Amino acid sequence: MCGITAYVGHGEALPFLMQGLARLEYRGYDSAGVTILNEKLTTVKRKGRLANLEEELKNYDMTGHVGIGHTRWATHGVPSNLNSHPHTNAKNTLSIVHNGIIENYKELKEILLSKGYTFQSETDSEVVVQALDYFYDGDLMEAMKKVLNCIDGSYALCAISTHEPDRIVVAKKDSPLVIGKTKEGYVAASDTPALLAYTKDVYFLEDNELALLTADSCDFYTRTGESVTKELTTIPYDLEAAQKNGYDTYMLKEINEQPHVINETLRGRLDGHTVTLPKLDGIDFKNFNKVYFVACGTAYHACLCGATVLEKATKLPVMTQVASEFRYNDPIIDEHTLCIFVSQSGETADTLAALRLANKKGCTTIAIANVLGSTISRDAKYTLYTAAGPEIAVASTKAYTTQLVLLTLLAFYIAQRLDKPVDTNALDQLKDLPTYVEKIIKDEDIFASYAELLRDQHDCYFIGRSLDYASVLEGALKLKEVSYVHADAYIAGELKHGPIALIEPGTVVIAVATQPNVAAKTISNIQETIARGADVILFTTDDQDAEGIKNKYNLPHVDPLLTSVLVAIPLQLIAYHTAKIKGADVDKPRNLAKSVTVE
Ligand code: F6R
Repeated sequence: MCGITAYVGHGEALPFLMQGLARLEYRGYDSAGVTILNEKLTTVKRKGRLANLEEELKNYDMTGHVGIGHTRWATHGVPSNLNSHPHTNAKNTLSIVHNGIIENYKELKEILLSKGYTFQSETDSEVVVQALDYFYDGDLMEAMKKVLNCIDGSYALCAISTHEPDRIVVAKKDSPLVIGKTKEGYVAASDTPALLAYTKDVYFLEDNELALLTADSCDFYTRTGESVTKELTTIPYDLEAAQKNGYDTYMLKEINEQPHVINETLRGRLDGHTVTLPKLDGIDFKNFNKVYFVACGTAYHACLCGATVLEKATKLPVMTQVASEFRYNDPIIDEHTLCIFVSQSGETADTLAALRLANKKGCTTIAIANVLGSTISRDAKYTLYTAAGPEIAVASTKAYTTQLVLLTLLAFYIAQRLDKPVDTNALDQLKDLPTYVEKIIKDEDIFASYAELLRDQHDCYFIGRSLDYASVLEGALKLKEVSYVHADAYIAGELKHGPIALIEPGTVVIAVATQPNVAAKTISNIQETIARGADVILFTTDDQDAEGIKNKYNLPHVDPLLTSVLVAIPLQLIAYHTAKIKGADVDKPRNLAKSVTVE
């Protein structure tokens, strides 16, 4: 996730670009930069928050009527001045900003290097400007079309050239781009909040479309050059609502982003039925006799799922431990242990201490991180990134599901490296997860109605078996942290060994039964709670007989190893709606911090 802005008009470009970047900082804040076109290109960029760029800009004359800007969430290349956007060509005649991932950038870079091009940065994006230079023959739009024909991946792109100083060419595929019509001209940005101070009249660019913006015109084209007619849309909400994209909280916005970020996390990592994680190709997985998964909180729950998938796929003995325990438990680990550490922030003190211990004991360490350049990624021997983008709500949602997806990819990758067969259906269904997640999110009203059952409750019990136990642990954590309803999760088979004493008429029990070998067992445990007056909400599949359970939601049929991604969505939405009903501060639950950098 990055944010981009562009301005072409009769007024000054810089004020629009900067206020737009400020509104888009939620999309990334590793660095920021702008290019202004005024006969020549002046590009200024700085690592860190937008304030650093603002300070630096005081040293430059940035007047001009055309410009592009960028705020970065690093994906390829650490946060630094050089890796910041905009990127320019060597002659300083072209400048681009990019949001997305160019999957085949390495191949393109090789080709461009062989043609004598040099690169300033480690980013995937820089190939776009060098390729534009290669194809440029007096027509920026034509050059852009040729570049788009060469690149695989996702992009929202804006490009300017000193040879055509009156225009901006923009293009989009799988990353958002909105164009606004203002009194002064045309503007573009990754998201509407960046435009709203200037206009509410916008065009939404669709995938595989380009637009040519000048101060007085805006023309749309397909990638093959056909002209496209578009209607102006008037944004019905104000700036404050727009920061959250029309959602009333960041948590709900982030829940809704999951189809996109899961797709981005899968992007480039599945080649047919082969998982490709080239960063790990140097590891000899035959060297390991056990695997440890270590993390805290929600990331620990992702580990519980990832560990089950890995064990089933590789048959390697697997252990999971909360980081604050691992670091003091004198774990039996050595150079034959693979240790996997999961952290959204990459700064959690206990997880970092556990990682350092594993490094000290000679283990091979892999970090699953979301923040590029975070401490965990620097300390681990290997790092893989989720593509959740910045998570602002304190309660983790999209980071969790992208961790599940990446851990599943990792498990299948290791299985393939160990010559173990991986079910091709499971690999196909991984690619379909974004579509399933989107479909489940559309049932939000059903989950909101389930939350009504919790309106007057102080307690709620979650049950599940096998992989579903990890899912209900996460469901219970989500509910308690945002709604303050006391929630406990139990292995369904353990109910009769104690917890069933808590069930009385009206107690709400949320059950997950997606694992075919034990689903019927969980459902019979549910019947035991119904017999004692519980109100049950059940997540299962339509082939399970759940007679008498009126709140039953059927999840799509996928491989049992993938269900935790799907069931996460309703459990997040139940927590969210319960919190709303109870009037809690959903995005900033009491006593919690987003990044726990103390022990
Ligand atoms: C709960 C939540 C926390 C974090 C935990 C670890 O919604 O967000 O439980 O998962 O504090 O944080 P990271 O993943 O940053 O190490």
